[in-house]
Amino acid sequence: MAFKIFPLISFLFLIFILLAPSGHAKRSIPSGKKTFFASAFEYFIKKLKGCHKGNTTKGIHELKAYLEKFGYLRYPNKTQATDDDFDDILESAVKTYQENYHIKPSGIVDDETISKMTTPRCGVPDIINGTNYMHPRHRNHKSSGSSGVHVVSNYSFFDGEPKWPPSKTHLTYGFLPNFPANAVAPVARAFQKWQSSTHFTFARAQTNADLVIGFYRGDHGDGAPFDGPLGDSIAHAFAPPDGRFHYDADETWSIGAVAGAFDLETVALHEIGHLLGLGHSMDEAAIMYAMIGAGGIKNLNADDIQGIRDLYNI
Ligand SMILES: *[C@@H]1O[C@H](CO)[C@@H](O)[C@H](O)[C@H]1NC(C)=O
Ligand SMILES: *[C@@H]1O[C@H](CO)[C@@H](O)[C@H](O)[C@H]1NC(C)=O
Ligand SMILES: *[C@@H]1O[C@H](CO)[C@@H](O)[C@H](O)[C@H]1NC(C)=O
Ligand SMILES: *[C@@H]1O[C@H](CO)[C@@H](O)[C@H](O)[C@H]1NC(C)=O
Ligand SMILES: [Zn+2]
Ligand SMILES: [Zn+2]
Repeated sequence: MAFKIFPLISFLFLIFILLAPSGHAKRSIPSGKKTFFASAFEYFIKKLKGCHKGNTTKGIHELKAYLEKFGYLRYPNKTQATDDDFDDILESAVKTYQENYHIKPSGIVDDETISKMTTPRCGVPDIINGTNYMHPRHRNHKSSGSSGVHVVSNYSFFDGEPKWPPSKTHLTYGFLPNFPANAVAPVARAFQKWQSSTHFTFARAQTNADLVIGFYRGDHGDGAPFDGPLGDSIAHAFAPPDGRFHYDADETWSIGAVAGAFDLETVALHEIGHLLGLGHSMDEAAIMYAMIGAGGIKNLNADDIQGIRDLYNI
């Protein structure tokens, strides 16, 4: 149950800060802790409202860091990556982000952009190695015969379209030793849902599983650190044939829809999509949409299933 205790402590701490008389709170809590309940990112980004090319507002480096983390930016020059200069490269990255999330691509940090960026999301980048697979494009719909029907897809793949080999349609999954016992069933249900809608079958294995699921907090050595409670990323998974899927242990998790908590099964459905080779979808109703709100539940939709069919040519 460790995964529930930490968010509980955070929550009690937040209540303490809110209820404590300010003089008292100032004496007992270091001032830096004020950003505890709104991530540093959220604090800065809200101050950037209206920013555009040419601005040098303090905090623009936080916007650069966010867009870099999710694949929209890569400065060759470290100085440019960490300064507060809203340059051409940043404007272009903001526009691409806006296009991917159906926001008018103005390059201006408007309310819609701020609201999207401050919604908790999956930690997997939208863009890997510079190719924006989320850009809507006409795809040759292979299952419709050799002549093909061109459809505009919302789903996406990873760069290079990594996938499981054709012979590998049965995949096993396992859990890290610290995995909470009551979190196993929601993950198993998510595998069952993917199994009902695809050519894959899944079974739990005690050893040598193809897919391994665990809880981690902070920097856990895979190059994609988590960011604590109420930060921007809540879980992530790697493209085939890697098989790793991690929940952020600092978030509050639930079984089913619980206000302020993330549903284990909904997030598992999303991350399993990555394990099978799907990138993020532009369709807000798809399980593969990157933003995952607290308090809700979601299922696979037609876009997710079409994505798998297209990737595996079935
Ligand atoms: C951005 O720069 C403009 C001038 O080009 C200025 O009027 C505006 O206040 C700046 N915005 C912010 C949020 O700093
Ligand atoms: C990096 O960018 C800064 C600011 O734009 C510039 O002063 C510096 O010369 C650049 N360094 C390199 C190695 O290009
Ligand atoms: C990015 O591209 C480089 C060179 O093309 C390649 O070695 C690397 O594996 C790619 N990374 C990912 C995550 O696809
Ligand atoms: C893509 O998603 C949008 C909603 O975000 C939807 O209106 C559109 O029909 C979807 N396209 C396809 C081909 O499913
Ligand atoms: Zn994701
Ligand atoms: Zn990880």
